[in-house]
Amino acid sequence: MADNIDERLAVVILAAGQGTRMKSTLPKVLHRIGGRALVGHVLTSAAELLPAHTLVVVRHERDLVAQAVADDAPTAVVVDQDEIPGTGRAVEVAIERLPDFTGDVLVLSGDVPLLDAATLSSFVAGHRASGAAVTLMTAVVADPNGYGRVIRDADGGVDRIVEQKDATAEEAAVSEINAGVYVFRSEALRTHLPTIGTDNAQAEKYLTDVAGLVRRTGGLVAASVVSDVTLTYGVNDRAQLSDVGRLLNARTVRRWQLEGATILDPATTWIDVTATLAADVTVLPNTHILRATTIATGAVVGPDTSLVDCEVGERATVRRTDATLAVIGADAMVGPFSYLRPGTYLADHGKIGTFVETKNSTIGEGSKVPHLSYIGDTTIGTGVNLGAGAITANYDDLTKHRTEIGDQVHTGSHNVFVAPVRIGDGAKTGAGAVIRKDVPAGALALSVAPQRNVEGWVQKNRSGTKAADVASRARSTQKAGDGPQRQEG
Ligand code: UD1
Ligand code: CA
Repeated sequence: MADNIDERLAVVILAAGQGTRMKSTLPKVLHRIGGRALVGHVLTSAAELLPAHTLVVVRHERDLVAQAVADDAPTAVVVDQDEIPGTGRAVEVAIERLPDFTGDVLVLSGDVPLLDAATLSSFVAGHRASGAAVTLMTAVVADPNGYGRVIRDADGGVDRIVEQKDATAEEAAVSEINAGVYVFRSEALRTHLPTIGTDNAQAEKYLTDVAGLVRRTGGLVAASVVSDVTLTYGVNDRAQLSDVGRLLNARTVRRWQLEGATILDPATTWIDVTATLAADVTVLPNTHILRATTIATGAVVGPDTSLVDCEVGERATVRRTDATLAVIGADAMVGPFSYLRPGTYLADHGKIGTFVETKNSTIGEGSKVPHLSYIGDTTIGTGVNLGAGAITANYDDLTKHRTEIGDQVHTGSHNVFVAPVRIGDGAKTGAGAVIRKDVPAGALALSVAPQRNVEGWVQKNRSGTKAADVASRARSTQKAGDGPQRQEG
């Protein structure tokens, strides 16, 4: 891979701005879409170009942004902008770090996250083929509000960029906007950036002024008009954050559909860029597939399901479930209404059913926890069936303890397992048992006091009620010998 590095390419990502319009304590470029920070998306696309240098300019909340950059792109160099404001100054401090570099500088904004590597790569190639000193990415938009306008001369060549706040009414009416993405020959930046002042409406050093200066000194400014303007959408406020988030998600959903996943409702399916779906996976509506989740072939996930860092095995079904850091085996069944917390490992052919919460527990092959249970800090062997309402009392107010259940154990309904406790292989427990002591292999554990029936209690103590009436009727038919005969003691 190192052989393919483009030694003539440096990428500068601008991420020093505060993002005032986000009204957030979090720096704008750290807000997330598709499971990744805005600046992380830009770094990911940039990395695919294999540039010789990647620099990220920071200032506002610099430590937070620098840490995020280090996490997403360990080889990127973080450069601090000084107190001189503006995109021009940001690029200037970056190229000062590359005194010997003579190639092309691709400038990207940390708040423009949807540009993909293929678009950037053909943008750089177009610049190199044209012989221009600078190439701008531009777009023709219905509403140019907030963007710099691209002013062309009589021949149609780019003359300069005017920021909205500095534009005349005539300039402001131009619908071709500067997307904020450029390739510069490095000497154009070294020549012109030091000469740019801050005499403008925002008292900032504008990177965009380089275009006009190149033109005034006889250089060529090229423009590459993108056909899909959505690629250049930037994030300045929370409304735009959700807009680009939705666009990114639509792209991700489409990608997995083309890879063979059936996704019924793209509008209500959210898939992080870090998740993976195999062919012949089916995703039903209202499903969130987040972080490093992987879903194997034949699995059916949803509806109304959220999976965070989960592994779903082949042909498993996961319905109406909330799961985090859980492994769901092949042919396993989860849901509806299951809550799988971190450390849940459900082996092949297992089942976690309705209103069941699990945490830090292994449920062995073919074992089932079908109804109304809490299973925490537990190891369950193979072929086990836990009766409805199984509860592990794993916490004694001081520490957590483990429950160990062997192979082929069947437990009665409404059991409490007071950990630490162990149920041996093949053992059984009675309904309502509170298991406080280990159960040996093959034993039947009963902990409930024998039931005592006080005959005739209702007729004696509740005479005249409907219950007493039906009871005496039932008792007389029983005596006659044709009613229900069942009697327990
Ligand atoms: C900029 C362009 C404008 C273009 C628009 C596209 C300039 C002067 N204007 O305007 O023509 O249409 O982008 O989105 O460049 N930043 C720094 N240091 C700074 C200021 C900004 O690193 O001192 C970073 C910001 O964090 C952001 C990017 O540069 O990632 C763009 O800054 P922003 O203030 O959003 O510029 P716009 O006003 O949108
Ligand atoms: Ca912006």
